[in-house]
Amino acid sequence: MARTIAIANQKGGVGKTTTSINLAAGLAYINKKVLLVDFDPQGNATQGVGHRVGLKDLTAYDAILNDVDIKDCLKKLQKPPMTLLPANINLAGADLELAKIERNREQLLKNALDSIKDDYDYIIIDCPPSLGLLNTNALTAADSVLIPVQSEYYALEGITQLLQTIRLVQKLFNPNLKIEGVLLTMYDARTNLSAEVGQEIRKHFKEKAYKTYIPRNIKLSEAPSMGLSIYDYAITSEGAKAYVALTREVLAAEAKDGN
Ligand SMILES: Nc1ncnc2c1ncn2[C@@H]1O[C@H](COP(=O)(O)OP(=O)(O)OP(=O)(O)O)[C@@H](O)[C@H]1O
Ligand SMILES: [Mg+2]
Repeated sequence: MARTIAIANQKGGVGKTTTSINLAAGLAYINKKVLLVDFDPQGNATQGVGHRVGLKDLTAYDAILNDVDIKDCLKKLQKPPMTLLPANINLAGADLELAKIERNREQLLKNALDSIKDDYDYIIIDCPPSLGLLNTNALTAADSVLIPVQSEYYALEGITQLLQTIRLVQKLFNPNLKIEGVLLTMYDARTNLSAEVGQEIRKHFKEKAYKTYIPRNIKLSEAPSMGLSIYDYAITSEGAKAYVALTREVLAAEAKDGN
């Protein structure tokens, strides 16, 4: 049965999508069966793996709100060899539509994913930069949440709010939700600031802070415009090396957990 990891931080532009794509790809290239769920109306993960949503294509929106079998919404990709639940702007209205539903509106993604969990080793959910019902659905569906944090001033601002949301979801919908880890992104070894943010994160999150830092790397920012994972775009880049190291850490943590 799949282990489901939500990549979440309500702060925009911190590396959620980059991490979703390249962690999913890293796992896929070591022959894990991976489903990447784009759960952001911006559709960045979808575009970032080179998929275009056609007019007739079904998306994450249909899987949660249109009574469509999620299996009919999935796309098999060749490069990286994994499956995608695509998203596009249709998902933007979902928050409002979900708000109107009275029962179990937080569980719709979980219900959809439960029907296909046996088909995968990993389900990676790319969350939107907000703390609305889409995020709640992602956290309710997940076994754990991986939090990317950008190395910058105010990096930890907003994390308190995210941790509160996580606790609320634990209390109300998903008591087993764990923190998978906290990942420092866009790290610049030349600046004191990056080092300071790294220390802060280690202080707050202890062993949940990944040893791997994702460096600021131009190849990582170019790859999505080519619709490629970092392994397909620039395998020898520092960015690729860092995401390999992160993938190893995620695997090692799982082995240690024994689940
Ligand atoms: N390590 C990195 N080095 C250089 N550029 C990066 C790195 N990580 C991400 N980027 C770039 O920074 C921008 C934001 O990254 P990304 O889209 O992954 O963040 P996000 O948290 O998903 O954003 P949003 O909140 O809008 O969904 C993108 O243009 C991306 O290509
Ligand atoms: Mg994103």
